[in-house]
Amino acid sequence: MSATEPQAILTPLTESAIFLVLTVNAGSEAEVADVLTDVSGLKRSVGFRVPEAELTCVTGIGSSLWDRLSTGPRPADLHPFKELAGSRHTAPSTPGDLLFHIRAHRFDLCFELAQRLTERLRGLAVVVDEVHGFRSFDERDVLGFVDGTENPEGEAAGVAVLIGDEDPAFAGGSYVIVQKYVHDLTSWDALSTEEQELAIGRTKLSDIEMPDEDKPANSHLALNVITGPDGEERQIMRFNMPFGQVGRAEFGTYYIAYARTAELIELMLNHMFLGDPPGTTDRILDFSTALTGCLFFVPPLEMLDDITSLRAEAAPASAPTPPPAPAQNAGDGSLAIGSLRDHSTDAER
Ligand code: HEM
Repeated sequence: MSATEPQAILTPLTESAIFLVLTVNAGSEAEVADVLTDVSGLKRSVGFRVPEAELTCVTGIGSSLWDRLSTGPRPADLHPFKELAGSRHTAPSTPGDLLFHIRAHRFDLCFELAQRLTERLRGLAVVVDEVHGFRSFDERDVLGFVDGTENPEGEAAGVAVLIGDEDPAFAGGSYVIVQKYVHDLTSWDALSTEEQELAIGRTKLSDIEMPDEDKPANSHLALNVITGPDGEERQIMRFNMPFGQVGRAEFGTYYIAYARTAELIELMLNHMFLGDPPGTTDRILDFSTALTGCLFFVPPLEMLDDITSLRAEAAPASAPTPPPAPAQNAGDGSLAIGSLRDHSTDAER
């Protein structure tokens, strides 16, 4: 495994997902770190038997937990989610130390993995938000629009999502922002299809983007298409999923977006909630309320699998310097090629 191999962020769309956000109890950090080193193994245990279900799990670590796990270098763009309170709309910032984004073509596998993970974390961490998402027909969200069309594909997806040379110690990592939205479908459905299309900036049935001159300034697309200095659109990767409970008239969108910099997603949120220009806020927010908001760093796979080693960096300065890594096989079956692995000491195990 290369040190920059990413977690399974860029996987094909699945029929099911479970989104788990947890807070970690004070004093349980070391034990939680141990569990995190087992996430890949637990995923294999559940998913290996049904390969066609393509079970994946992405683990994100919040800003405060990162500091409790390590006093070493921190990912440049990792910070608590910033609340946005405008005159009309608010994007709240809610607690969250850990995110598990579990996806598969079958819900039972998502559930089984969620169960195994929470079993291991019982008494160490508390699930503060749990959402079971489903893929709707035509990839539509509960507002009735196809959601995800303009996500980057192929090489562009990796460029959009994965940290590179700008923060080499965390290359292969990513940032993820999640928000749980509920929609006022009664009011939304009272709009005509044409009015809904103006709110999004795309046609509803055929999912075609409107020409720029026809897109209102407060449409979702007008506010979320952001170009860089080179004139190219700056992209993020969204894996939104519908959720809800009909008996409670709860109709939701779990918004989840990955990017190589949190700042880009935050800029989009600024446009939506505060307006661009200020005051021109996103029309979909007139029918949508954000209930949660969290930001996480997604370590590359090797860093996650070896996350207990970060605690070595937090050891007192007087701790003995570990011997240099052997050039060849370390004797424990590993090749000792991970920079983090080299720093671990018995005390941390
Ligand atoms: C209430 C929750 C949301 C819903 C239902 C929603 C729905 C949609 C839909 C239907 C589209 C058009 C098709 C496509 O995916 O390309 C879209 C595009 C997009 N949305 Fe959202 N969205 C939501 C929240 C957000 C948030 C919070 C952000 C950013 C912080 C965002 C960023 C984007 C971006 C970047 C595009 C693509 C624009 C383009 O390149 O054309 N969305 N969204």
